[in-house]
Amino acid sequence: MLVLGIETSCDETACAVVTDAVDPARRIVSHSLFSQMREHAPYGGVVPEIASRAHIEHLDGLVAESLTAAGLGLRDLDAIAATAGPGLIGGVMVGLMTAKTLAYATGKPLIAVNHLEGHALSVRLSEDVPFPYLLLLVSGGHCQFLIVDGVGRYRRLGTTIDDAAGEAFDKTAKLLGLGYPGGPAIERLAKQGNALRFSLPLPLKGRPGCDFSFSGLKTAVRLALESCGPAPTGQDKADLAASFQRTVMAVILDRARHAIAMFGDSHGVRGKYFVVAGGVAANAVLREGLVALAEEHGMRFTAPPMALCTDNGAMIAWAGLERFRLGMIDDLEAPARARWPLDAMAAARPFAGVKA
Ligand code: KG4
Ligand code: ZN
Repeated sequence: MLVLGIETSCDETACAVVTDAVDPARRIVSHSLFSQMREHAPYGGVVPEIASRAHIEHLDGLVAESLTAAGLGLRDLDAIAATAGPGLIGGVMVGLMTAKTLAYATGKPLIAVNHLEGHALSVRLSEDVPFPYLLLLVSGGHCQFLIVDGVGRYRRLGTTIDDAAGEAFDKTAKLLGLGYPGGPAIERLAKQGNALRFSLPLPLKGRPGCDFSFSGLKTAVRLALESCGPAPTGQDKADLAASFQRTVMAVILDRARHAIAMFGDSHGVRGKYFVVAGGVAANAVLREGLVALAEEHGMRFTAPPMALCTDNGAMIAWAGLERFRLGMIDDLEAPARARWPLDAMAAARPFAGVKA
């Protein structure tokens, strides 16, 4: 089985062909990615209009590149998958429309993939992780805990009520005058800093449930920076980066403890997998903390390789393949969606621990 996948929901234009080989190491047949990071860097964040245009410019070439590298033609494919949301709507439309066109022209089935499902299932591309598992999806756009019960079967346990964790890293990096993306820059600088120097608030720590909140931290970082006077030194900034990182990690670990308890209530924890995915999963301090926490609860910890943690085409192709083998295909009317919760029920529930 061969599935082409297209990802254009944010600032990566990506495309891949995957297959259902028994050996996980042989499942990615080819993959191509154009990162728009340089286009967005001067603005300190992703500019939607620039992103849509860049997707239009690069996607055709990437599809051709993926097929050529795989030694395949469109006719060899079994299905064509694309992210249909959630994400920046202009970009989503570019990818989905391209996939629809290819599906229409070749008569192949279309699979409209939820980007979050791509992240949720990506670990099964690199490793045969059985259902159910607990997933922490932590990126620039998302910060949520999900129980993954099966393909198309997700229960969201908690999410952010304002910013995503990666967004908090990016905003803090901007305040500190570091480049974009902020996560890696802060992690690097934090190594030279005193994480105990600044005491920042721990949003929602100890509250019931496992929702997140990060927007207040940005204000706290700004105030802490101002407290250093008109010209903060390099050491001030390193100390602030380290204190910020320590705080975010403490919040995530506190929330993860609650998520594990919630997962345990319905599924038990012993021998089950705790999976982390998304760009922030690259953070070594976070990984260390989560490994220890999973171990403490008798859970097995794993994360997809870094290239599969951040946005990529293979995770969309793989989610498409998992859906396709269960007969879940879409028609050419499938809409592009800016918002598309994986767990529609959770989207309608008020946040735990926060008054509606
Ligand atoms: O998954 P991703 O590539 O894109 C989406 O947001 O979907 O995640 C990018 C985010 C950015 O906010 C970036 O600052 C953050 O992941 N990030 C990190 C690290 N590397 C990337 N955050 C903390 N520590 C890192 N080492
Ligand atoms: Zn993503």
